[in-house]
Amino acid sequence: MKIIILNQKGGAGKSTISTNMAYCLAMSGKKTLLIDMDPQAHSSVIFCTDIPRDQTVNELLSSKSFKIDNVIRQAVLGENEEPVENLFIIPSNIHLAITAEQITTKIHREKLLHNHLKKIEKDYDFIIIDCPPTVNVLTINAIYTSDMILIPTIYGRYSLDGIADLFRSIEDVKESSDFKYMILRNARDSRNKLSNVFVEEQLEPYRKNLLKTVIRRNEAINQAQMNNEPVMVFDPRSYGAEDFKELTEEILRYGN
Ligand SMILES: Nc1ncnc2c1ncn2[C@@H]1O[C@H](COP(=O)(O)OP(=O)(O)O)[C@@H](O)[C@H]1O
Ligand SMILES: [Mg+2]
Repeated sequence: MKIIILNQKGGAGKSTISTNMAYCLAMSGKKTLLIDMDPQAHSSVIFCTDIPRDQTVNELLSSKSFKIDNVIRQAVLGENEEPVENLFIIPSNIHLAITAEQITTKIHREKLLHNHLKKIEKDYDFIIIDCPPTVNVLTINAIYTSDMILIPTIYGRYSLDGIADLFRSIEDVKESSDFKYMILRNARDSRNKLSNVFVEEQLEPYRKNLLKTVIRRNEAINQAQMNNEPVMVFDPRSYGAEDFKELTEEILRYGN
């Protein structure tokens, strides 16, 4: 199953969710491939100590004949490069931004990633794709190939701003309004009772697509990202670790 983590807003938690969910899926024995489609490479830095310039998602999108096996790396953690069992990554780097501009004019540009993934997707239980915070040709490649779209929203006055535009973009790419998506509520702070009620009301029309799991706002999640670690490694007893385990169980139930 190919799940993309999508929201054109920065700071919604896409990279945090991509990395922690991919790690949790791998820990539960599922062979998982994490693809970083964001030139900012926030997911890549967690699982790659050095990011080689010529072995990234860049090369894949630049050439149809490039062998995808050459950019898939074993995920590792820390300076000792401890391998993470069952977890693989296709990293990105800042040059992806330029590649994105160049491929905008290619024919079938929206299928570039899809055509590469066709060759290897049967080898993985899950492929998780971290998207950039804009709707561009990179995002469109991710949407085109996705089986499931996971949209994180954070609790706040503007959490759902732009969601109608996002749905329109997805419909355009999928050429259908019948795509599968789930909304994941992220960074909930139980102290903010009134704003939580406000956001829950806003989400009411999407109720059947809401994941039950809510990721709480938790400092361990933030610190883990700064430490280049999944929260389960940084602090396995934190609320953050607990919430991501629950999320993974929910996704696994869905996937079966
Ligand atoms: N549930 C959470 N609790 C605390 N901090 C969070 C949580 N989710 C995300 N963050 C922090 O918010 C910031 C933005 O998250 P990030 O995943 O980079 O967003 P995006 O990839 O959508 O731009 C990061 O510093 C991250 O550590
Ligand atoms: Mg990000």
